[in-house]
Amino acid sequence: MIHRRALLASVAAAGAAVATSRMRAALPLSGGPVILSTWDHGIPANVAAMEALRSGGTALDAAERGVMVTEADVTNRSVGLTGYPDRDGIVTLDACIMDGDGRAGSVCFVQGIKHPVSLARKVMENTPHVMMVGKGAEQYARELGIEQLPNVLPDDVQKAWENWKKESRYQPVINIENHDTIGLLVLDANGRLAGACTTSGLAWKMHGRVGDSPIIGAGLYVDNEVGGATCTGVGEYVLRTLASFLAVERMRMGDTPQQACEEAIRRIKARHADVRNVQVGILALDTHGRHGAASIHDGFTFALHKDGKNQLRKA
Ligand code: GLY
Repeated sequence: MIHRRALLASVAAAGAAVATSRMRAALPLSGGPVILSTWDHGIPANVAAMEALRSGGTALDAAERGVMVTEADVTNRSVGLTGYPDRDGIVTLDACIMDGDGRAGSVCFVQGIKHPVSLARKVMENTPHVMMVGKGAEQYARELGIEQLPNVLPDDVQKAWENWKKESRYQPVINIENHDTIGLLVLDANGRLAGACTTSGLAWKMHGRVGDSPIIGAGLYVDNEVGGATCTGVGEYVLRTLASFLAVERMRMGDTPQQACEEAIRRIKARHADVRNVQVGILALDTHGRHGAASIHDGFTFALHKDGKNQLRKA
């Protein structure tokens, strides 16, 4: 027999859910595509994502194409094969991709793969799995005919690593300077969402360390019913709060994307005694095309492509 108090609580919860979905439904869906991505490198990534949509691609195609630009940028030191290595001088990459319909794919701790986001997409589309790691993921890449490149550091990266080794006593550092992951969210003209997130992770990390970026719900989460969110910054702080999932669930409960981002940052600060030297940035985009951005400290930039303009903004 259902207890009366439990019944009243479930009726109240159902009422609140209906009210929340009415609140969301009262707003129109976005008129045109919106693309939102982290940091200054989001600008060229957004251009490629928009081109993918204009040439008939899906939101998922656009998310992948967008972050591929950052992965291929040989001047980038925090995404792709020219990112800073771990403390043993080895570059290991993490990436994920998610469709608003709930499908997701992820790879982490992979070496020598130029486009880990594309491998993550293959995991999502061609396997029964969500996540593949290290040697197994690399073996799967070879089976797909994806070339595995040798671990060769650009000269300046080699020099930076050698300098770090002199001063660091082999201790990994968690700080504000060390992360510029790209996370990118796409809302297409039909109101469908997708996202991607890719990184070389924390510079000088311990070999084997994985951050938030390839973890569905931490670095990225997307739901066609509500919206999407993506994070950048020190992955350990994002992992402990599943900040992207949290932001999407806050939007589901009626928060605007801005409120959802601020709540995720508030939660990170509340869970950690000292965030003076830690940066985390979060972006959110809802099905109405509204966006939000927040960070622990000033300095987090993001790129917004909306209404024909692709602009760099500050959170
Ligand atoms: N957000 C990237 C990382 O912590 O690896």
